[in-house]
Amino acid sequence: MAAEQSTVTVIAIDGPSGAGKGTLCRRLASRLGYHYLDSGALYRLLGLAAQRRGIDFANHAALQVLAEHMDIQFKTEHDRVVVLLEGEDVSRELRTEQTGALASLVAVVPAVREALLQRQRDFARPPGLIADGRDMGTVVFSDAPLKIYLTASAQERAARRHKELLEKGENVSLAALVEQVSARDERDMNRDASPLRPAADAVQIDTSDLSIEEVMQSVLSILSLKNMA
Ligand code: DC
Repeated sequence: MAAEQSTVTVIAIDGPSGAGKGTLCRRLASRLGYHYLDSGALYRLLGLAAQRRGIDFANHAALQVLAEHMDIQFKTEHDRVVVLLEGEDVSRELRTEQTGALASLVAVVPAVREALLQRQRDFARPPGLIADGRDMGTVVFSDAPLKIYLTASAQERAARRHKELLEKGENVSLAALVEQVSARDERDMNRDASPLRPAADAVQIDTSDLSIEEVMQSVLSILSLKNMA
């Protein structure tokens, strides 16, 4: 693990959902020509695979074996990432609220996090990797030369989610979303296994009042200050 961590430039980007990590990470990866690890997708894939196999989520040993062996592939087709589970395209199903809920159930299991460690580290290939998640800087790539922690107020993250849902034709009250976002933060930050928190050496960026271009510019300035771009 140490060898892989040190020979490839890894940029670890963590933070709660809705802070803008996904968009930033995809743009950075494309700008720098780096690989991209969407670690949340691994937890989502595992949740989906476990449900399809009828595995009891209390059976941590079975979840661990599945985490180690599930057959997954990420393929880029015409600028779009296609995710395959046992050869089947599950890209769409992966993004649903239901799959997100399954992911959060498996993500609290320490044996699952341990089993996914190596699979995540295997994404680190030359010339570099943008690692997107919750524990990239604290656990998975703890010696990454650049760690960014993106935040935004719960109000702003709920408003972004609200806009996304409206665009999909779903009308959920903003107040309910603010509550959901706050409850999820509480769970993520207070769980025993790899709680969501900034690494001690992470640069924190609050995106509440920033556009994606502005966030991108700040990260690119940090990279240039560190002679990494
Ligand atoms: O970022 P996302 O919504 O796709 O994440 C799905 C779930 O997985 C969410 O409950 C947080 C969890 N997760 C995690 O615990 N550790 C990570 N590195 C990435 C995601």
